Amino acid sequence: MKKVAPIDLRKSEHIKINLEQDVRSELTNGLERYHFVHEALPELELEAVDTSLTLFGKKLSAPILISSMTGGTEEAGKINQHLAEAAQECSLAMGVGSQRAALEDQHQVNTYTIVRKVAPDILLFSNLGAVQFNYGYGIDDCRRAVDMIQADALILHLNPLQEALQDGGNTNFAGLAKKIKALCKRLEVPVIAKEVGWGISERMAKILAECGVSAIDVAGAGGTSWSQVEMLRAQDDFARNLAATFAGWGIPTAESILNVKKAAPGMTIFASGGLKNGLDIAKCISLGATLGGMAGPFLKAAAVSKKKTVEMILLTKRQIQVTMFAAGAGTIKKLQDGNLHEW
Ligand SMILES: Cc1cc2nc3c(=O)[nH]c(=O)nc-3n(C[C@H](O)[C@H](O)[C@H](O)COP(=O)(O)O)c2cc1C
Repeated sequence: MKKVAPIDLRKSEHIKINLEQDVRSELTNGLERYHFVHEALPELELEAVDTSLTLFGKKLSAPILISSMTGGTEEAGKINQHLAEAAQECSLAMGVGSQRAALEDQHQVNTYTIVRKVAPDILLFSNLGAVQFNYGYGIDDCRRAVDMIQADALILHLNPLQEALQDGGNTNFAGLAKKIKALCKRLEVPVIAKEVGWGISERMAKILAECGVSAIDVAGAGGTSWSQVEMLRAQDDFARNLAATFAGWGIPTAESILNVKKAAPGMTIFASGGLKNGLDIAKCISLGATLGGMAGPFLKAAAVSKKKTVEMILLTKRQIQVTMFAAGAGTIKKLQDGNLHEW
């Protein structure tokens, strides 16, 4: 029988490949089609432009999310620490990577708990794969994940294509919606559904809304492509060619936001997938999102240091603030009603 890489080895390979290779989707995030109308007389003082917001009872200095990435190896623990210290210093929201590694191996727990230790005040999201409900996981495992890091909400990632391309992936996605619905009813914290880089269709948004999720992170196409990651990890031509087929797969981020807005009006939307800077985030807010998340770009900064991560956050925040200024939006609320046009 073929040997499947254990979770920690897989996690190390994911980090290495994401840091060292070009794993971008063949698609763009779709935001290049949208432009703010420039306001030559914004009637605002730049420094008074307010990028802050409150979400799930926590105050954030800007609508920036450090997307779910890692944990489960020593290197991942260090990256989580840098991300969390920076998130605490800048009052941002953050997600940890799938906590399955820690639920199955007690030795990995501290690579996740370090996050709450250094970031006691941030809006923090737990993370598990929804598919695990078909592989023995239940509500108590979700509670353990949430308690482990005293999370404010649980992100359930939906990654059918990644599992299909991954050696030994968990590919039984049948009957999951009703399990997600049962979880949403009983879990003490909000449940957020999230893709991992291929976006959300209108049909999916409707189903997830009916399940009772509190937010949807579209994680659309246009940035990190997990088929490209799996192509680079592949052990043979069969797996390599299979993964390569999907380099242009998925629903771009901009389209995904609009899909959710149409199919589930009023749903809280997190935008992620290929966002490059604060201008992209501002466009997403104007399209209907509450937060804009980045994964790959934060991974590169956090692999260097906390300082580099803070620098990246400050630049991203300033890009949002200057965008709001030049678009005549003094608050996030105004940005949401913003003057974004498709050209
Ligand atoms: C190294 C790495 C590990 C990731 N692990 C997870 C994970 O465990 N759970 C999850 O929901 N998403 C995970 N993601 C996906 C991201 O949260 C995000 O949805 C995706 O990378 C697209 O965003 P980006 O284009 O800004 O990288 C991971 C991404 C990276 C780069």
